[in-house]
Amino acid sequence: MANIILLGPPGAGKGTQARLLVENRGMVQLSTGDMLRAAQSSGTEMGRKVAAVMAAGQLVTDEIVIGLIGEKLAEGGSGFIFDGFPRTLAQADALDALLKRSGQTLDAVVEMQVDDTALVERITARSTCGTCGEVYNDISKPIPADGKCSVCGGTEFKRRADDNAESLKQRLMEYYKKTSPLIGYYYHANKLEAVDGLGEIAEIADSIAAVLDRRATS
Ligand code: AP5
Ligand code: MG
Repeated sequence: MANIILLGPPGAGKGTQARLLVENRGMVQLSTGDMLRAAQSSGTEMGRKVAAVMAAGQLVTDEIVIGLIGEKLAEGGSGFIFDGFPRTLAQADALDALLKRSGQTLDAVVEMQVDDTALVERITARSTCGTCGEVYNDISKPIPADGKCSVCGGTEFKRRADDNAESLKQRLMEYYKKTSPLIGYYYHANKLEAVDGLGEIAEIADSIAAVLDRRATS
């Protein structure tokens, strides 16, 4: 099964679309952000080390995230959605090497294009289910009126420590300085597919599905 990257700034909808690809295509979501937050919740040494860096909206070290992805790929399987990884050219090089080592290829890099005004609006209205991680939005995807998660029935919802105006500004700066060069990198590797990330969630899912189907047959 194809391996893809969802590339885009904070709030572009990477997590939302990754969950739909898992549901609709049986792919496997590898979100370094989710892995780092899980490490924080379980109180591991690495989780403690990265907490302040993440809350401030800065990138954690390449070494840590490459290690996390390397462990997942070593478990085997395919059909991976890399969500929020790679975020630097060094991470992109490391991913190439890791995929090669496990005999796999990278099939497409889906760049989700969303303007900054929409990103700020989306992030400041986001919450997630504390049980299953389903992503909600006060404006575009509200928590059901009965207060229960539509996926798992959970009743606790969380807001992220880095979803505030100050951290978000830093996250956007990190994206433009360190991650956006990957757009050129993957364009020249003939992997880049730009998708309009504004619009209905279902419409964007259809655009991504069309890209993947086209890549699979070309
Ligand atoms: P990470 O967790 O990856 O955060 P991010 O990249 O900032 O992206 P987000 O998760 O905020 O946004 P998203 O694109 O997933 O959008 P979502 O679907 O939730 O990383 C967090 C931190 O961890 C980093 O800052 C860094 O410190 C560290 N880190 C992680 N990976 C790293 C790496 N590789 N290297 C170094 N450090 C790393 O949607 C957002 C909101 O919009 C939701 O409310 C959703 O419901 C809503 N929404 C989605 N689609 C639409 C739509 N079409 N219309 C309207 N609303 C929508
Ligand atoms: Mg996310």
